[in-house]
Amino acid sequence: MNRQAWRSDRLDRLGSAIFSEVAGWKAAARAAGLDVIQLDIGSPDRPPSVGIRERLAEASLRPELYRYPGTDGSPDFRRKVAEWVEHRFGAKLDPEREVLSLMGTQDGLGHLALAVTNPGDAALLPDPGYPVYQAGLAVAGVETVPMPLTAERGYLPDFEAIPDRVWDRVKFMLLSYPSNPTAAVADLSFFEQAVAVAKKRGVLLVHDNAYSEMAYDGFRPPSVLEVPGAKDVAIEFHSLSKSFHMAGARIGFAVGNPDALDSLRALKNNIDFGVFLAVQEAAIAALDLDMKAPDPVGPVYERRRDAFIAAMAEAGWDIPPPRGSMFAWAPVPGAWSSRELARTMLERTGVAAIPGSAFGALGEGYVRFALVAPEDRLREAAARIGRFLRDHGPSETR
Ligand SMILES: Cc1ncc(COP(=O)(O)O)c(C=O)c1O
Repeated sequence: MNRQAWRSDRLDRLGSAIFSEVAGWKAAARAAGLDVIQLDIGSPDRPPSVGIRERLAEASLRPELYRYPGTDGSPDFRRKVAEWVEHRFGAKLDPEREVLSLMGTQDGLGHLALAVTNPGDAALLPDPGYPVYQAGLAVAGVETVPMPLTAERGYLPDFEAIPDRVWDRVKFMLLSYPSNPTAAVADLSFFEQAVAVAKKRGVLLVHDNAYSEMAYDGFRPPSVLEVPGAKDVAIEFHSLSKSFHMAGARIGFAVGNPDALDSLRALKNNIDFGVFLAVQEAAIAALDLDMKAPDPVGPVYERRRDAFIAAMAEAGWDIPPPRGSMFAWAPVPGAWSSRELARTMLERTGVAAIPGSAFGALGEGYVRFALVAPEDRLREAAARIGRFLRDHGPSETR
């Protein structure tokens, strides 16, 4: 029996290999007796608030919530999303056609290209960027056109640098701020430019706003839908995973252009039947509580950021302080490749991080730390890394 025959070639284009590799390195480090500090995967270490968990517990006892939920999201969920989006960003939505429930934003991002493009089309993606963007294109047979993001430009793309002949083939352009992995943020004037470009070029603008509630120093990340007329060309993805620590519950939503959302809904109607209604009830509670008695996640991560960046500086590794997201995007000291540094650091110190190369060609030269541990663990991680850097020196060449 040829088991290789049961594997499609497109799996090789998904680019997720490095994440499983890091999981293997962690297992080896644990087997070698190391206390592993997991700053690799951005999975929140805190639970949702008690109010959210209570609503989930109550809802799970209601027999009528065990029917197939339907792809759209319950009317109550869609209404609450529209209320929250208006409360948070001042943008008005029709809950019928301009809100769609998702099994996490990953679901929407992974399926979008299949819903709105044809094989042979092209799409603009950030480089570096979150890997599912690329995976979604690979599955749909769509060509990736990378938009280079560099520190010099604050990790914002240069729309003017994209030639006309590329724009002619592009179906959608994907942006995400606060950004994973670069931790950069974008203000409303950037989104005004992006909407204007999308209108001029006739492309769909897709904004992944998974970190909308995670920003520091008083910055409140905007929604692309705050730009007047954005709904003509834009959709936005939101996640309850980071904003409300509900990553394991798998719920998010897409809002904005009704035609693009119809396409995504039509595809998903053939693939899944929506999010467990009890989970939708918990999400309603999360959004409701956020409007009535907010318990924002930003300050928690801001304290962690301050602790980690200061301790790393003391350890000899200067990292520009992130302004949003849950990540620190750390320039590799010395001549290591990002992969060799992440691997050796994990083997020697037990601190797990993701090599920047996992996020695209321009991620090389960086390592991504997720601030998903309490402050004392982050300081401990930095202290161990400091000893490691002193032993190996930034000049070590691999
Ligand atoms: C930028 C970005 N978008 C989307 C997601 C997926 O989130 P969800 O849990 O909503 O599927 C993540 C998760 O890490 C992310 O970093």
